[in-house]
Amino acid sequence: MALISPFSAISSAPSSLTPLRTRPPTSHFRNRIGVRCSSAEAATIRDDLQSAAIDVVADIKTERVVVLGGSGFVGSAICKAAVSKGIEVVSLSRSGRPTYPNSWVDQVNWVTGDVFYVNWDEVLVGATAVVSTLGGFGSEEQMLRINGEANVVSVNAAKDNGIPKFILISVHDYNLPSFILSTGYFTGKRKAEAEVLSKYPNSGVVLRPGFIYGKRRVDGFEIPLDLIGEPVERILCATESFTRPLSSLPASDLLLAPPVSVDDVALAAINAVSDDDFFGIFTIEQIKEAAEKVRV
Ligand SMILES: NC(=O)c1ccc[n+]([C@@H]2O[C@H](COP(=O)([O-])OP(=O)(O)OC[C@H]3O[C@@H](n4cnc5c(N)ncnc54)[C@H](OP(=O)(O)O)[C@@H]3O)[C@@H](O)[C@H]2O)c1
Repeated sequence: MALISPFSAISSAPSSLTPLRTRPPTSHFRNRIGVRCSSAEAATIRDDLQSAAIDVVADIKTERVVVLGGSGFVGSAICKAAVSKGIEVVSLSRSGRPTYPNSWVDQVNWVTGDVFYVNWDEVLVGATAVVSTLGGFGSEEQMLRINGEANVVSVNAAKDNGIPKFILISVHDYNLPSFILSTGYFTGKRKAEAEVLSKYPNSGVVLRPGFIYGKRRVDGFEIPLDLIGEPVERILCATESFTRPLSSLPASDLLLAPPVSVDDVALAAINAVSDDDFFGIFTIEQIKEAAEKVRV
């Protein structure tokens, strides 16, 4: 972590705690520094330095991550993991703050809004990374819009606001035949991926998980997807060397691609936020490896 002289911070810091927008220095967790002074006048500060100790409070922040869809299944796991790592978190979704009580929920800044209409300047202020979990099913048109357009709009908003990193939760292609891959869901996902990789060639991250398991909340109820996902993941990983030859068969990954836990997807996203050398497209296996790097 770089040492920062309090005096240089005084001369360069903004008068309030306005977050810096420039690309932060490369380090494991990039820090920004803001300084509050008891006096508004620079000249007074100089005088005070000569006579008595001044009242300076250094406010060192870690990353500030904006999670698009932070109230959803994967998004909430990302928010929770980020909070546990001391990362400042803003979530944007149409429903805003979730209704269930939890201590990590209180530590997230919940913004209610739609990516197509939101004031991005406000949402993205001071952000060091954007993580998008936008996606879903519906009609062809709806799937193109939420998996594709919504993410394209978000990538461009992040780029225009100078945000240095964009992380997209995409999807594994399951080895599917091209007529299925040309449906709105996959077409939208690939459009979003292309936008991330073209606008962020040296920092953009695309995570491609298969089935994600964990506890999914639906209308106040918890669906324990882990009861199925966890044992299936264990069996498929244990038998991988036997089943590998089958993976060249079309759609074989519908049966053979191991599920991944929502916590691993979240940790892989956190690793992407904090590791400047982590960019590009990541497979299911690589997601798990990335999660290991930041698991405590
Ligand atoms: N779950 C899986 O097994 C799985 C597997 C592979 C890939 N994925 C991908 O992972 C991502 C997350 O999946 P998930 O299961 O967590 O989905 P989810 O629970 O439906 O979460 C989607 C989030 O996006 C928000 N959202 C949707 N439209 C929005 C808009 N116009 N503006 C702002 N926010 C919006 C939703 O909140 P509001 O509705 O309140 O706006 C919600 O918070 C998706 O891209 C999905 O395709 C999921």
